[in-house]
Order: sequence, then C-alpha cells, then structure tokens
Amino acid sequence: MELFAGAGGMSLGLKRAGFEVVQAYDSWAPAVEVYRRNLGPHIWQADLKDIFHVGPMITALAPDIICGGPPCQDFSSAGERIEGERAALTRAFAMLVCIARPSWFLMENVPRAAQSQAWADARAMLVKAGYGLTESKLDASFYGVPQIRKRLFVVGRLGEADGFLESALAAARTDRPMTVRDMLGDALGDAFYSHPRMPGKRGVWSTEEPAPTMRGSSRRPMPPSYQPHPGDAAILERGAFFTRPYHTGRGVRTIDEPAPVIVRTSRERPRPKDLAMPHPADAMHPSQAAVLSQTHVSRIQGFPGNWDWSAANSRDTDQMIANAVPAALAEAIGRVIRAREAGESIPEIQGRFGQWLRQRGFSKPAVRNAKSRVNRARRLLLGRTFGDAAAEQASLETVDGFASLSVAIRSDLRAALRLYAEWRGDPPKAKRKPKVDASNHEMIAA
Ligand SMILES: C[S@@+](CC[C@H](N)C(=O)[O-])C[C@H]1O[C@@H](n2cnc3c(N)ncnc32)[C@H](O)[C@@H]1O
Repeated sequence: MELFAGAGGMSLGLKRAGFEVVQAYDSWAPAVEVYRRNLGPHIWQADLKDIFHVGPMITALAPDIICGGPPCQDFSSAGERIEGERAALTRAFAMLVCIARPSWFLMENVPRAAQSQAWADARAMLVKAGYGLTESKLDASFYGVPQIRKRLFVVGRLGEADGFLESALAAARTDRPMTVRDMLGDALGDAFYSHPRMPGKRGVWSTEEPAPTMRGSSRRPMPPSYQPHPGDAAILERGAFFTRPYHTGRGVRTIDEPAPVIVRTSRERPRPKDLAMPHPADAMHPSQAAVLSQTHVSRIQGFPGNWDWSAANSRDTDQMIANAVPAALAEAIGRVIRAREAGESIPEIQGRFGQWLRQRGFSKPAVRNAKSRVNRARRLLLGRTFGDAAAEQASLETVDGFASLSVAIRSDLRAALRLYAEWRGDPPKAKRKPKVDASNHEMIAA
C-alpha cells in the first residue's frame, strides 16, 4: 500500500524489488493520472486527511507494508518551515499505519522532518503502537541514482528493537556515488557517440575509455541509430551540465559527478546573474554547459526514458519529478526489507557492545564468543530483533533448530541475547525521549 504516491517513483522502485502494490492514494488529479497510465489502475484519488473514510478501507485490504512520502514543503529547506496542514499529513500517515497495523511501514521525508513536532508526534504514536524504528538518512547517489539527494527514511516493523535495519541499509550502499556519465552510459549501452572526423573512423566510444579529442566536427548531431535519448550527445560532448544553483552554490557540474538534488527549477536555463557571476568552482562557464531537458531530470530521478507524463502539463510534471523518491533508491530499500522479511539478513552487532563487555570483565576471546553467539541466535530468529527482551527469549525457545541444540549451547545463546538486550537497554532507551511539547498537544486536542 502506498500513501501520497505522487507520480509513482516509490511504487516503481518497490515493484522492481518484488513488491505488489495493491493500492495507492494521492489527492492530486494529474499525479493520479500519471501514476495510472504508467503503473496501473490501483491508484485512487483521495484526501488522506479524511481518516474516517480511508482508515477502514486500508484496514480491510490488510497490507503487509504501508509506504509513503507525506508532503515535505513545511519541513524542507526551500520552504518557509512553518508546520501547517502539510506537516500534519505526517501525523495522518502514522495514524493510518496505527489503524491498519501492517507488519512493516516505510516513510520518506526530507532530513529536517526528523526535528519537527509533526514527526515527534507521529513517532510517539508509532512507538506506542509497538513499532521498532530504523531512522536513516540516505544519500540516493549511493543507491543507484546519479543525484546527491539526502532523505530521511523511517522503516518500522512491529515488535522490533530500534535500529534493526540500520546495518543492512548501510551494507546496501555502493562504494562510490553514481555519476551522470554512469546514467548516460547506460542509456547508450555503455557507449557514446562522437561524430568521426574521417570516414571509417569510430563514432561510438565506451564510457570506460578516454574520449576522443572533441573538435568542431564531433559536435554534429548523432545519426538516428545512436539516438535512444535525444540530448545525451550534447551533454556527453560538453562534459558538463547546468542546473539552477541553490543560493550561492555551483551551477555547473561535470558528468563525472552526481547531479545536485533535483528540484522543480533544476532544468531552467542560466539567468543573466548566473552568466554574469558564475561560481568559482563551476566546471566551465554556464553558457558552455549543456542544459538538462525534462527527460533528463526525469531520468536522473530514476524514471525510465519512456515514462508517460502526457497526463500533466509541463510545470506539474516538473513538480512531480522533483517530489519523487528515485526508483532505484526505493528499490534498494525494498530489497533490504524483503531480505529481512525472508530471514536472509541479520543486523550487525552495534557499536560498543564489545567495549561494554570488556568493562564488565570479559576477556577478548569471551567477547568474541558472545558476539558470535548473538549472531547465531539472530540467524535462528531469522534476523528478528525484539524490543522486548522477554519476547526475544520466548521466541528463541520456539524457533526451528533451537530445541535440537545441546543444553550448553542453548544456554550460551540465551545468555548472549540477554547480555545484548541488557547493553541495548541503556543507551538506546534514552534516545527515545519523546520530543513533544504541551502546546502542540493542545493543538491536536482542539
Ligand atoms: C512528496 S510527494 C510523494 C512522491 C512519491 N512518493 C513518489 O515517489 O513519486 C507527496 C504527495 O502527497 C500528495 N498529497 C498532498 N496532500 C495530500 C492529501 N491531503 N491527501 C493525499 N495526498 C496528498 C501530493 O499530491 C504529492 O503527490
């Protein structure tokens, strides 16, 4: 189930990760139509503030997971940051999760949302309803997206200990950020076209090898057979592109970098002031750099080149593109969730557990043993962590394979999990202090 589905970036990624999206909701007619044309008829136009109406519908569908990116304008650095009705939709997301109680939920928002009153209230409701939370700020460029886009992702699972998916999300990162050249290379089948200077010379070059020297003649348009995405040749040849700078930031980047975060105005041409006062670190003068097309920004956001935007006007399309969760990022998170659901991954032992044991007089080999027993117990528990230590012990007794272990091993595994739970109990509980203030409670009560 996806709430606030927009044009479908997140749904697309989750589908690629193997999810079946049974129902999606958004209140904006053009977004609903774009979603429908590309992903299917399972989207409904509905105002998600109307919890009396939507709550029972969602509950009846009994989803395994509820996903969604509630509007972020009230939190985002570009907005005015007054928490109003749009921020309240973060609370609506949490309320709908609490009403339907799926095993999992996934919420996306801008990083600043983490400090908002709306999220503090939403979080308190979700914790009270029994969800363990992983709150991670992820940069899309390390998850298959050629764009530096940092976003808050909260993954919740009923009964888990907080932080249960953090290490798995970190492990899914790529070693280096994806660049625009990586994306363009893919589009051209890992090759790019440079018009040959002499008959019989090569026109297609691998993105892995040094480019041919660029001369006037190599700027000729590509022959039709090399045009899966019109406009790619210009970017490849110029080697740099312009995006509307944010405040006093850079406007021109090379294609060997990720793009900056895509916003509604990213593809606008340089203004007179951008041309008159280029940023000192710009890769070239803005007048020389390629300007991105709407298809480019759509692809940088992870939509396929043939995504059908025809249901929306150009301005709305720019807004929907900017709003989206890049599909590759949603896909990566979706795969991490599915692997844990299937018991194929276990959380890494966190931080200072070893040090904590050493302070309690454990020798180095005893620390190693304790850690490997925690891991073994976790594998038996199919990767589950438990917010409640007693529930964890009880669950261990019933999992496949535990009863057949020797008495000594069973006792070691119980003891290791107890120790880990004891260690976790101290610092993480303190982190969970609800960030609510009385004035806001009055607002909710009203
Ligand atoms: C950040 S966008 C979501 C983008 C989407 N996750 C994607 O990947 O394409 C937020 C969406 O919330 C929708 N929205 C805003 N207010 C709403 C409401 N009251 N009920 C339902 N949807 C709403 C907007 O139309 C917008 O499409």
